[in-house]
Amino acid sequence: MEKCYKRHLVTAALPYANGAVHIGHLAGVYIPADIYVRYLRMRGRDVRFICGSDEHGVPITIKAKQQNCTPQEVVDKYHLIIQDSFERLGISFDIYSRTSSETHHKTASEFFRKLYDEGKFIEKESEQYYDEEANHFLADRYIMGTCPKCSAENAYGDQCEKCGSTLSPNELINPRSTLSGSTPVLKKTSHWYLPLDQYEPWLKEWILEQHKEWKANVYGQCKSWLDGGLQPRAVSRDLDWGVPVPVEGAEGKVLYVWFDAPIGYISNTIELMPQEWEHWWKSEDTRLLHFIGKDNIVFHCIVFPSMLKAYGDGFILPENVPANEFLNLEGNKISTSRNWAVWLHEYLDEFPGKEDVLRYVLCANAPETKDNDFTWKDFQTRNNSELVAIFGNFVNRAVVLTHKYFNGEIPSHLSCEKIDEDTLAQIPQIRKSIEESLENFKFREALKEAMNLARLGNKYLADTEPWKLAKTDMERVATILNISLQICANLAIAFEPFLPHTAQKLSYMLNMKGRNWEDFGSDSILRPGHKINDARLLFEKIEDESIEHQLAKLDASRPKEEAPEETATRLGSPVPLKDECTYDEFMKMDIRTATVLEAERVPKTDKLLKLNIDTGIDKRTIVSGIAEYYSPEEMIGKQICILANLAPRKIKGIESNGMILMAKEENGKMRIVTPEERLENGSCIN
Ligand code: 2FM
Ligand code: ZN
Repeated sequence: MEKCYKRHLVTAALPYANGAVHIGHLAGVYIPADIYVRYLRMRGRDVRFICGSDEHGVPITIKAKQQNCTPQEVVDKYHLIIQDSFERLGISFDIYSRTSSETHHKTASEFFRKLYDEGKFIEKESEQYYDEEANHFLADRYIMGTCPKCSAENAYGDQCEKCGSTLSPNELINPRSTLSGSTPVLKKTSHWYLPLDQYEPWLKEWILEQHKEWKANVYGQCKSWLDGGLQPRAVSRDLDWGVPVPVEGAEGKVLYVWFDAPIGYISNTIELMPQEWEHWWKSEDTRLLHFIGKDNIVFHCIVFPSMLKAYGDGFILPENVPANEFLNLEGNKISTSRNWAVWLHEYLDEFPGKEDVLRYVLCANAPETKDNDFTWKDFQTRNNSELVAIFGNFVNRAVVLTHKYFNGEIPSHLSCEKIDEDTLAQIPQIRKSIEESLENFKFREALKEAMNLARLGNKYLADTEPWKLAKTDMERVATILNISLQICANLAIAFEPFLPHTAQKLSYMLNMKGRNWEDFGSDSILRPGHKINDARLLFEKIEDESIEHQLAKLDASRPKEEAPEETATRLGSPVPLKDECTYDEFMKMDIRTATVLEAERVPKTDKLLKLNIDTGIDKRTIVSGIAEYYSPEEMIGKQICILANLAPRKIKGIESNGMILMAKEENGKMRIVTPEERLENGSCIN
């Protein structure tokens, strides 16, 4: 049986205050979290929604250098931009604080000190790159050099942005310091490590045995980390920006940002509820949920829980970690450094009053089970053909006709025909589907169901045509409009979690007092005789011009050197058609869907991944040449399409049973083919 919790503590990943928030952050984390929290509140649950800016870490010091200012100035600027834009979008945090706050420094410092005093860390010496000209140890991001994998010249010490490989600084060819340009030297330094290996058996039991219900992408990544064996992780850094390590002789060292940031959830709760915070963090009656993006999974499922376990003292662990995949923009990865993004604060300025359109499109297209793409064209279509043509149109017709025929008063429900009963009967069913989807973190599904309520209303009006009956049967018109307005009132409730601005506008129009989830499904929310307000348009059409303007703006961010290459490939001749094959030949191929359970690199190769997959009929191994395009972590949990009856082949001594379907992009990059929606494993494709 589901446990009945007294409190729900919901956190959303603390965004780095080295830049503004973009649509990728919103679709991945903040919109789903806000929908969930608004839903819980409407159901009368005791909820706190915690967030704040993550103001430490190397990217902030780099930004400060680029902008020729101090790290504090950087975080002050972006903290305000982020906070303000979240508020304007209606993200309803109970607190949005920051990790440079005094409370946070104190909390994080004490947290470290307790673990240190209790001997929970190990201290280790290692050699790290040091810039002798700048007198500075170099964080991975401060070292650049030639990528050992693809020979790109400007790879970072931790990653090559060209080929996507994860690197360590000593793999770089010709490393150089970005501080002075000099060649760095290796120098000894000492740091504190959390021995994650000691927590491995406990983590295996807690996650792999007790949390099989976590989303496939989350569970899969955890399993891959745990199966690969955990290593001690450094929790301090040689840096002059962050929470100072509270130990004598540790001058010039700060807590690693990924050690202090999750403690920010606790500090911000303390700031919100100084007296009560312990009930929220240390009671088995609290349900803790972390909403994050997929790149944060290991920190929230493995590192932070191990920190809390090490600390003890009754701290609870997350009950679920609903992480999403990534959102791309017009076919390319969103990139802050290349300005390939739609920035929230700019959107809000350029589309005033259209906060909910963005919320709608990003939820309808949320990367819940796989990476997804945002395009401006889709944004326009969803607004014009769904919000305007279905939702807005239905509400407008119901309200305008009520003013026209009944002077703005809810008419009585007088007659009753089958279509009325059938229509009304669907409302509680829609409510149930929305609840089920939301409780399972299926936000796209839930939104689709909510839109089905608007579709239901639209169809009801189209089928009953009250405007034609007005000459002959006003009793019937009264009933039809009564029912239509009850649907409108239900829409105001159903959409409150998703589109709060619209829900508010709609309830004002209907002159509704509150929006209570418990009323959802009722056919008598609005009483006959109740006076409604004038009709106002809920949504407006978005014209081609404003989409073209956005596309032109993006185009200006496209790196100049990309353009000719792209034109060349676009204009180049397509791959010629292969020889004809017969229908029977095609039907011999057994193509079906499968999910990747485990993934690892095949040792001593650059291109091969060994994947264990669930085909719905069996579990099997496939060796695939996709390591250049996907990391093992990225593949876990992904749904793929495979040729399942390909004769087995041995590749590097491993038997491969099938082949993954891939599509080649114009630039030669291979992408896996995945179904639009997650399907049952083993669904046949033909
Ligand atoms: O990935 C990020 O944007 C991090 N700043 C998230 C931190 S989440 C938490 F641990 F604070
Ligand atoms: Zn590379």
